[in-house]
Amino acid sequence: MSSSDLPASCVIFGASGDLTRRKLVPALYHLVKEGHFPAGLLTLGVARRPKTDEQFQAELLDAAQKYSRTKGVDPAVWAKVASRLGYVQGTFEDPATYAALKSRLDASAPTGTRLFYLAVGPDDMLGIVQRLAEAGLLAHDPASGRRAHVVVEKPFGEDLPSAHALNQELFKYLSEDQLFRIDHYLGKETVQNLAVLRFENMIFEALWNRNHVSHVEITVAEDIGIEGRGKFYEKVGITRDVVQNHVLQILTLVAMEPPLSLEANALRDEKVKVLRALRPLTGKDVGKEVVRAQYTEGLVGGETVPAYRAEADVDPVSKTDTYVAMRVFVDNWRWAGVPFFLRAGKRLSRRLAEVVVHFRDPPYPLFPESSGRSANVLVLRLQPDEGISLRFDTKVPGGNMRIQGVDMEWSYGKAFGGGGPEAYERLLLDALRGDATLFTRHDEVEAQWRFIDPIVQAYRDDNAPLSFYSAGTRGPDEAERLLVEHGQAWRPLL
Ligand SMILES: NC(=O)c1ccc[n+]([C@@H]2O[C@H](COP(=O)([O-])OP(=O)(O)OC[C@H]3O[C@@H](n4cnc5c(N)ncnc54)[C@H](OP(=O)(O)O)[C@@H]3O)[C@@H](O)[C@H]2O)c1
Repeated sequence: MSSSDLPASCVIFGASGDLTRRKLVPALYHLVKEGHFPAGLLTLGVARRPKTDEQFQAELLDAAQKYSRTKGVDPAVWAKVASRLGYVQGTFEDPATYAALKSRLDASAPTGTRLFYLAVGPDDMLGIVQRLAEAGLLAHDPASGRRAHVVVEKPFGEDLPSAHALNQELFKYLSEDQLFRIDHYLGKETVQNLAVLRFENMIFEALWNRNHVSHVEITVAEDIGIEGRGKFYEKVGITRDVVQNHVLQILTLVAMEPPLSLEANALRDEKVKVLRALRPLTGKDVGKEVVRAQYTEGLVGGETVPAYRAEADVDPVSKTDTYVAMRVFVDNWRWAGVPFFLRAGKRLSRRLAEVVVHFRDPPYPLFPESSGRSANVLVLRLQPDEGISLRFDTKVPGGNMRIQGVDMEWSYGKAFGGGGPEAYERLLLDALRGDATLFTRHDEVEAQWRFIDPIVQAYRDDNAPLSFYSAGTRGPDEAERLLVEHGQAWRPLL
């Protein structure tokens, strides 16, 4: 990331929300601190409750102090941020909000890129874009170099028809190159490093296919529950909340062909091809290939936590999935016959996101005492402690030819001193610059829903029975079956 002196501005809709406090404000602070955002960047927050600029600045300072990835906030840096930080009070529905916003922008940042970050629920997204357009805030002005970019949060639609309709509606006001559909997993260092690992190191890419890979696991596990968002979760479930976006995005990066270049569309073309090659799961097949489950009461971190059905705003007989595991196939030349096992869950034994590539056994067991041997395994840890480990077999010292698997470990934190920037830092910067490489294109998001919709429909039709697991465990026993059928087991969550 390099510094830029763009006379830019950033407007956050939903400026008093949880996302703004926990993610956007710390990202903004670090981008200014490290010189990636121009110090003169004007930042305006828009929300409903009345408050002065000074009150808003104090609120955001508190957020930066609480959630910044480094301890404390440098007062000199914060003074720079605060000197260009203002608040526009109004509702998203009222044209006067946009008139007030426009006059502040025109007065204080008339040129340069304007980044509109919609940290709002999905129901508000389209209305805001429409009113921004009506206020003339989305038009490009070649004379002054003024451009407008809009970042939208997940969820993008709730199924294929709604995502498609939303794309079409948004395209009335914006072009694809102005629209940045965020999937914050793509901002994680290890996720970006997947392309470097594969396409910069011949030792991996040469083996990255059906001839050498036996199967792949992708896990996104959380120990937290639904955090009081019962109303939201009842409508969504983990298949749509996490697999539709984060898990499928990781899968595309693991499975895609080398792109023609690093240009945003070249990369996204390859990702879309993977999504198109996914073997559809429909009807009764969903019951065979997908295990969906829900947590019951259990122990997490030594404390008893309630069952999902006992959470606030949750139906006491809810069938919403808080865990899902599935076996999927990418039906193309490279991956024919290689199962990809995907799992995501809440209230599991730990927070962990990783990709595990299991390589095939050697064709012939040359060493007679090979009972301790293990297949080669490459683990890409996305969180926590981002890093990579490679398991290979070695001889145990001594007179016998005894073999044991050992791990070669590499951690981002240890190698580069610190964990690197947060995903939102990279994504905010890219969106301001107009680099869409790490954002989801319209056809990508629709292809994701095309795969997910029949699975969710099978849940509704009761084609995939709901299993249960105690909170704080590895998930339902039923999920083991998917791998046992291949003579394998999930990597333990530990
Ligand atoms: N929280 C996260 O970590 C996270 C992570 C990923 C994605 N997301 C997504 O990001 C979006 C925002 O989530 P959030 O958790 O930040 O929401 P939130 O805490 O409920 O905040 C909503 C914000 O929008 C404002 N607002 C709501 N209705 C408004 C209206 N009609 N007019 C003006 N302002 C209005 C609120 O202002 P007042 O306070 O003034 O009422 C508040 O600033 C959601 O789509 C969510 O799915 C969130």
